[in-house]
Amino acid sequence: MSRRLALALMVLGAATWAAEPAPPAAPVSSRRALVRFHTACASCHAGECSGRLSFFSGKGGAKHHIRRYAPTADDLVVKELFTLLATMKRTCRVELPADTAAQARWTGEQLREWFNPDANAWFIPLGELGPARVTVTLQPGAGAEAARAQVLDEELETLAEAPLAGKAVTLRFDQPQKGRCFLLVRLAPTLTSLTVAQ
Ligand code: HEC
Repeated sequence: MSRRLALALMVLGAATWAAEPAPPAAPVSSRRALVRFHTACASCHAGECSGRLSFFSGKGGAKHHIRRYAPTADDLVVKELFTLLATMKRTCRVELPADTAAQARWTGEQLREWFNPDANAWFIPLGELGPARVTVTLQPGAGAEAARAQVLDEELETLAEAPLAGKAVTLRFDQPQKGRCFLLVRLAPTLTSLTVAQ
């Protein structure tokens, strides 16, 4: 086969693929963007799976709006956040980091990577869990009197929820089928440990 023909076939293949219904969201986003998206954007935009973005205020307007909720993000992350919202609207599910395996024990230092100081909130991917009854125990540090913890799945369904009130909290939920879920913690400036048992 000539190179030109091979190239033409590849392009044709790509075009056919592009016309198919949306493939599962590819793990394309950086950890920094995912943490921001889940802690600062998803709650307001949850339930919007209308298909396409309307660009109500144009791309420039959207950028201004994103900056408002991600004030210290760099341009690359702002772009990623835009794409994350577009993907969520199209697929009705949120992107979770595909490379994060379920982990039984997390130290404060490991958790720190998943903190968004702009939102004073945490997005902690729990990896693939189930089928099982899952028990998540979270220990906050100082200043978490008003904190709340919530476990959600990829479709943003809440699986468990509880206040932390400055103390350790245990969340239990059933994961009847294998599936990925994550923990959101709001209003907790520090977390010291997390355990996940199933
Ligand atoms: C307090 C609620 C709220 C928060 C937080 C929020 N948004 Fe929005 N956003 C809205 C509303 C309301 C609109 C206008 C209606 C719509 O298109 O959903 C909007 C519109 C947008 C649009 C334009 C959509 C379109 O169809 O043109 C983008 C892109 C967007 N938001 C991204 C984000 C990102 C990324 C974040 C996080 C950094 C974020 N938003 C945080 C409420 C919010």
